[in-house]
Amino acid sequence: MIAASEMLRRIANCAAGFALVAAAIAAGGQTAPVKKMGTAQSAEQANELDWWKNAVIYEVYPRSFQDMNGDGVGDLNGITARLDYLKELGVDAIWLTPVYPSPHLDFGYDISNYMDIDPEYGTLADFDRLVSEANKRHIRVLMDMVMNHTSDQHEWFLQSRSSRSNPYRDWYCWHDGKGQTATDRGQPPNNWQSLFGHSAWQWDEKTRQYYYHKFYVQQPDLNWRNPAVHDAFKEIIAFWLKRGVGGFRFDAITTLFEDPSLADEGVVLDKDGKPVINAFGDPQLDGSKTDNQPGLHEVMEEMRPEADKFDSSEFPGTRVLIGETYLPNIGELKKMYGTPDKPEFHLPMDTQVGMIDKLDVATFRQRLIDAGTHLGAHIPLLLFDNHDNPRIDARYGDGVHDVDIQRVIAMILLASRGVALVYYGDEIGMTTTPPTRKQDVKDPIGIIGWPKEKGRDGERTPMQWDGTANAGFTSGAPWLPVPPSAAAINVQAELSDPNSLLAWYKALIRLKKTVPAFDSGANIMLDPENTKVLSWMRQATGAPQVVVSVNFTADTVTTDLTLGEAGIRPRELKTLLKTPGAPDSAVLNRIVLGPYGVYIGEVQ
Ligand code: NOJ
Repeated sequence: MIAASEMLRRIANCAAGFALVAAAIAAGGQTAPVKKMGTAQSAEQANELDWWKNAVIYEVYPRSFQDMNGDGVGDLNGITARLDYLKELGVDAIWLTPVYPSPHLDFGYDISNYMDIDPEYGTLADFDRLVSEANKRHIRVLMDMVMNHTSDQHEWFLQSRSSRSNPYRDWYCWHDGKGQTATDRGQPPNNWQSLFGHSAWQWDEKTRQYYYHKFYVQQPDLNWRNPAVHDAFKEIIAFWLKRGVGGFRFDAITTLFEDPSLADEGVVLDKDGKPVINAFGDPQLDGSKTDNQPGLHEVMEEMRPEADKFDSSEFPGTRVLIGETYLPNIGELKKMYGTPDKPEFHLPMDTQVGMIDKLDVATFRQRLIDAGTHLGAHIPLLLFDNHDNPRIDARYGDGVHDVDIQRVIAMILLASRGVALVYYGDEIGMTTTPPTRKQDVKDPIGIIGWPKEKGRDGERTPMQWDGTANAGFTSGAPWLPVPPSAAAINVQAELSDPNSLLAWYKALIRLKKTVPAFDSGANIMLDPENTKVLSWMRQATGAPQVVVSVNFTADTVTTDLTLGEAGIRPRELKTLLKTPGAPDSAVLNRIVLGPYGVYIGEVQ
């Protein structure tokens, strides 16, 4: 059975027939250096333009971050109150999941007005204050941009469903049923399914047609073949750019278009030729008609200039476009960057690296090589989890060495070439805490799919600030329970422990920002046959090389780095960071690592 929280990414794999691109590249020299800024620009201008290229972006789930008014739900003023913590951590930007007015069926991803703030989260004035306080600390605020669908309570949809002749009718995807007559609604137009369970078609009795919804029934899909929809979103983007946002994360972007033929999707079969059944009890479809369809790139080519052309002396700098891009292979990911003439995303999510879900050295090595070679000078956006996926402990942990493994993951995230996306609470090792009873579930997919699909509450629990009853999140009753682990895993406790995971994240972020090779330096894989240790070198012109070695096992291992191909002779390393037990200094071809040990050293 497949859990719905995994479906967003699995559907993409199905669509391309699991055609993983295998890059047969030798271990050395895999990446092209990132282009440097022209000399005519001042250092400050270059900094504003390049701020995102080696950035740490922190995902805030506003509902769960910090509540200031005691209603048990996080709010904008709570985020503002925690900016100093984020500054101290070293983040360059925060991405807020949606804070627009919403009935909150999908906790904000069902938007009823794109140009305001939901009263649960605050006001536009609170938002402006957040942006201004964040900018004072050189932290950019990125908004979520949900273009695939609206809430069924959005005025556009209320109009659209009011009559077949309403001017908004064609803003959504309406179709007659199969075999529909004047008195019989027939069957839904085809077999397409919602990612959140069951048919993707909802019958509307008043106007006697079906509308399409890739997600919940209450989230009707917009019709992107209608130019008026394009114009509406350009206006929305401009509205938020004027308020000083640093960019957008485009939600569910690969599901913007559907195949106009309305042909059925294929059913995924298991090895015995039987249909795979998903967590909702439906046959698993291959997504071939509803995901990553023609039209998507043209929309992004159109939206990118909307961000690029925005110019403001009050809020200078590149506006960054991030894509929620669960894609089946690196080739499809590359397309999301567009071309030099027609750029699309700055940073489409690279789920190839972070969603392996298994500590397997060879797969990580190959995926990191792919990110370096296939993406060329484009910068990968690395991430390991988010508000839709169980946290790192649940996907990579072994139940015994979870904190050590969280250090390993942090190392891959922050010491590899690319932009790092950190999900709130990962820096302190928050664990996935799913509900144990159906009556406690808040995320509707957990109700539809219980008990196989428990929903996404487990990775959305309140931020653990301290060891008090509600973990410092709220003075009221928290909307989701604070996990018992908060007594030990919390910011306050970890701030005073130099060996904490939080201290580890901070040290890594500091290295990412200060070691020249960690800025844009290529990732060069070392010791390519090793099945226990992942080792790589960061190399940039004119900067000392830096070696990173990560033990993926509970055994003590000694690395034997084969450096001949890279033209490097064994030399001393100066330790920059290490886990307890790793040596204080090492020679390049002999680094002893304890269980899940990690070592970073600069070549002398
Ligand atoms: C992706 C978002 O990350 C997820 O939380 C949401 O439910 C769907 N898109 C629908 O908007």
